[in-house]
Amino acid sequence: MEPHLLGDPERWLPAGSLEKRLVIITDKNVEKYYGNHLLNQLINYKPLLLSFPPGEKSKNYRTKQTLEEEMLRHHCGKDTLILALGGGVVGDMAGFIAATYMRGISYIQIPTTLLAIVDSSIGGKTGINTKQGKNLIGTFWHPTAVVIDMNCLLTLPQAHLINGLVEVFKIFITSDKDSFNEARHGIHKIMNRDFSTLENIIQRALKIKIDIITQDEKDNNLRMILNFGHTIGHALEKIMNYTLLHGYAVALGILVEAKIAELAGWLSAEDYQSIQSVFLNLGIAGSQLKKININTMMSAIKIDKKNKSGQARYVLLNGIGQTYRDNGAFVHAVSDDMVKKALASVSEA
Ligand code: GLY
Repeated sequence: MEPHLLGDPERWLPAGSLEKRLVIITDKNVEKYYGNHLLNQLINYKPLLLSFPPGEKSKNYRTKQTLEEEMLRHHCGKDTLILALGGGVVGDMAGFIAATYMRGISYIQIPTTLLAIVDSSIGGKTGINTKQGKNLIGTFWHPTAVVIDMNCLLTLPQAHLINGLVEVFKIFITSDKDSFNEARHGIHKIMNRDFSTLENIIQRALKIKIDIITQDEKDNNLRMILNFGHTIGHALEKIMNYTLLHGYAVALGILVEAKIAELAGWLSAEDYQSIQSVFLNLGIAGSQLKKININTMMSAIKIDKKNKSGQARYVLLNGIGQTYRDNGAFVHAVSDDMVKKALASVSEA
């Protein structure tokens, strides 16, 4: 993790890369910003660059098949190294291709958004969406390396900065009260992209995430806390036809799921307000849920990877920096009535 890494691939390409077939997978937007730059830096490696239309809508079977067929047409073999250059959609897609192409080839994550830096590039989750929901098909396939060029954050539109900051706050809210408070108080510096403040919170969030993944790589228990806010968040994204940025949907999901904990008596009203005020500073208010029909939401949460016997499950707080655990479980069923009550309360605030 350093500035200017993209301009100096010799610093991060694994030994022996000259003997490999390099394939850059990216989307059309990122290609415009960084595609040619990376191609030029890698000129001696003669990489193949494949790109697809940006956005969640492209994260499907069809795009995967098109890219794989291109790779086959270009005779890419088992010795291919994929460079996943872009945000979460690119990383999940390129990682899933790496996991299945010739039964598994290596890849490097080069996240260019804050969301991808702090969330999707670390931990080996790869996959695609189907019409039933997000990330329902996929696998765990770890990248050989994650290359974070901090300079990418300088050109990121503000909405995409906020998109990633929500995931940083999510990690602090579930796992580290001190970091939450520090980031909450430094929010104006963060929003103004004070480099060292940003670097500090990113490093802290990554450390926590890596620690969680090391304990539960396959998402069977502890790792599920990284899905805080996502039961509601994923449902919202689906209802809004993926027009709402992931972080914004997760922030609203966090408000609802934190409200459930408050209604259950596990989270104090004061702690709930701290979370609410952080998101207000990011320009996200619970009232944005007003336009969502509660019944549509209740149907949308019925398909989620955390569901058990068709019942939605939630990560719930037991205070800031702590998740509620019951018999060792980190996700919990919540009655429809309670979810509806929380939704109504958050949207009225
Ligand atoms: N994005 C959540 C996880 O990596 O588990």
